[in-house]
Amino acid sequence: PTGLLADTRARPLQDLRISITDRCNFRCVYCMPKEVFDKDYAFLPQSSLLSFEEITRITSLFVAHGVEKIRLTGGEPLLRKNVEKLIAMLSALRTPDGRELDLTLTTNGSLLARKAQALKDAGLKRVTVSLDALDDKVFKQMNDVDFAVSDVLEGIEAAHRVGLGPIKVNMVVKGGMNDQEIVPMARHFKGSPYILRFIEYMDVGASNGWKMDEVIPSSEVIRRISAEMPLEAIAPNYVSETAGRWRYVDGGGEIGAISSVTQAFCSDCSRARLSTEGKLYTCLFATGGHDLRALMRGGNTDEEISTAIAHIWRARTDRYSELRTANTDGLQSERKVEMSYIGG
Ligand code: GTP
Ligand code: 5AD
Ligand code: SF4
Ligand code: SF4
Repeated sequence: PTGLLADTRARPLQDLRISITDRCNFRCVYCMPKEVFDKDYAFLPQSSLLSFEEITRITSLFVAHGVEKIRLTGGEPLLRKNVEKLIAMLSALRTPDGRELDLTLTTNGSLLARKAQALKDAGLKRVTVSLDALDDKVFKQMNDVDFAVSDVLEGIEAAHRVGLGPIKVNMVVKGGMNDQEIVPMARHFKGSPYILRFIEYMDVGASNGWKMDEVIPSSEVIRRISAEMPLEAIAPNYVSETAGRWRYVDGGGEIGAISSVTQAFCSDCSRARLSTEGKLYTCLFATGGHDLRALMRGGNTDEEISTAIAHIWRARTDRYSELRTANTDGLQSERKVEMSYIGG
């Protein structure tokens, strides 16, 4: 049984996304711009991070509430020391009726070639890899640390070889920066085992200097690709899916478009987020979280924490992206948390 808990808009709690480190070896301009995340930036100290035992404990409480999908994010989750050990602990959890979890991870791919086999062996089901361009110059402009495309492609292939698929490749499209890469990326991944997904550049966090005119709407992305390689819309895999799905008419596989700005998907949002230091956020754009670490370290029982989680979810009203669409400016003033902290 899934979705035992429902919020004020009747949305079930089904997914938990966990940020396991707020650090990253990239400085993507839309996520951790160098001017903000410089050498003086105060990342969380080790003692603030949830331990693997704490993460597993919280996750098991969410699973008891009906969560079946767990995504590890960051920052770059593969930078967390002994991440394989955490994955082994999480993959041992079972749903109330005895099934395995959909345990997955979002990575920039930089360490994937090296770690794919260990991740698979630990029980990870699949990975999603971020890649914003095929052209090295453009990619390096986006990651801002001189990281080469070929290393990410090798990571993707390694993950595929060890069976960490179906693999999705996420491209954030920032107008004027990498939008000329849309069609080359589509061409490259057409007919491959990988599902390419285009993500509208979002106003997450408080440091990326987001402007609406740098958002390329998914409709435009689909139009540009379709002009060369005709596409048709296909039905979603499940109700709360973030991506709209499209398939090449000639049988070249499918792509996805995540339109968080132009076509908000809050009405079906079943995602909870756990920050690196154990705060529970009920929206990617929340300004405050609920401190589950304090409950754990304060000696509360599983039952007490489980009840707290239920209260938080039942009271949930979030629908930031829908409101933003209705009123683009009014919402910018409050300080939002960074995506690297709350988890993509
Ligand atoms: P699958 O299970 O593989 O379909 O994964 P997913 O749909 O959860 O996608 P993924 O975790 O790869 O998320 C892709 C991107 O979609 C994220 O990096 C965000 O940019 C965006 N995204 C995911 N969840 C949300 C959400 O709840 N709200 C908003 N606004 N954007 C989201
Ligand atoms: N807009 C959209 N997606 C973002 N991500 C990070 N910052 C943003 C943003 N401003 C997502 C991307 C990336 C993942 C790690 O986080 O999907 O692939
Ligand atoms: Fe790191 Fe991913 Fe953010 Fe880029 S988008 S800075 S790879 S966490
Ligand atoms: Fe869910 Fe908030 Fe994203 Fe809407 S903006 S889909 S409520 S996380």
